[in-house]
Amino acid sequence: MKVRKVGVVGCGLMGSGITQVCAQSGYRVVVSETNDEFLNKGLASIRSTLTEDVARGKLSPQGKDSILVRIKGTTNTRDFSDCDLIIEAASENMDFKKKIFVELDRICREDTILATNTSSLSVIDMAMVTTKPDKVLGLHFFNPVRVMSLVEVVRTIVTSDETVEIGKTFSESLGKSVVIVKDTPGFIVNSLLIPFLLNAICMLEADIASKEDIDTAINLGLNHPMGPLMLSDLMGLDTLLLVADAQYEQSKDPKYWAPPLLRKMVTAGWLGRKTGKGFYEYAL
Ligand code: 3HC
Repeated sequence: MKVRKVGVVGCGLMGSGITQVCAQSGYRVVVSETNDEFLNKGLASIRSTLTEDVARGKLSPQGKDSILVRIKGTTNTRDFSDCDLIIEAASENMDFKKKIFVELDRICREDTILATNTSSLSVIDMAMVTTKPDKVLGLHFFNPVRVMSLVEVVRTIVTSDETVEIGKTFSESLGKSVVIVKDTPGFIVNSLLIPFLLNAICMLEADIASKEDIDTAINLGLNHPMGPLMLSDLMGLDTLLLVADAQYEQSKDPKYWAPPLLRKMVTAGWLGRKTGKGFYEYAL
């Protein structure tokens, strides 16, 4: 099956990035949100990124228009009925995601591939609420989507080889490199990254070094583009906590135990870049 039309469920940080990258790669895309306010916000962020690209001479005005014309925003799930591949990028809540998969399974064609962009939740739990679990897989993108060149293709024990191949070919057509991984807590990247970020927060909490020095050490000592506390702010501290808790819940491995400082910051609404305050302060 050749993918021509893509659906994206959710137009937040990840959903809007995935939508933009798909449209830029020539796909027609339907993207949904739960209400007009969220949808308009997500579509506005895509328009503004493309407008910046035009201002910087990286994209022609006609190029921008041809990308935008390929994107259709909706609040009606029925608009996904003729999509070949649908990527769920809704919030990290299993009950919510299962409801989305039930609905997509009901309205889509027999051969439609359903993917989740989950960071850490069990893909097979979503697959098994559908009638075609062999056509369900994970396509895990990284933030910022248009810059990060990896997609983790996640296969469950029931995902068919054909579905994996379609997911791989599709991700590569977006200019991404692909790794294939089994449906395990955190897949490859988050199972290594989350303990690293949590350890950095524990180190700050224990007053072993300042936040700037922890970040500088990793930035210069390991050549990472940003230190772990700055990266946590970029991911969103609420997302980091959700991912850590989900990985802990599935594995009971203490390496995923979230330190109290992270929980307190999330409770205080200090969620990182998106709220203007996390470990650092940001202009909104
Ligand atoms: N959103 C979108 N685009 C952004 C961005 C953002 N927040 N920040 C930077 N960019 C773009 C810029 O527009 C620029 O694009 P261009 O190449 O088309 O001009 C490009 O990124 C480079 O930006 P800058 O030169 O301004 O900045 P840097 O060179 O410092 O790069 C960075 C910024 C790309 C964010 C870099 O610091 C980086 O790679 N950081 C690590 C990011 C990372 O590890 N992401 C993974 C997070 S984990 C995850 O997503 C998993 C999930 O499950 C939680």
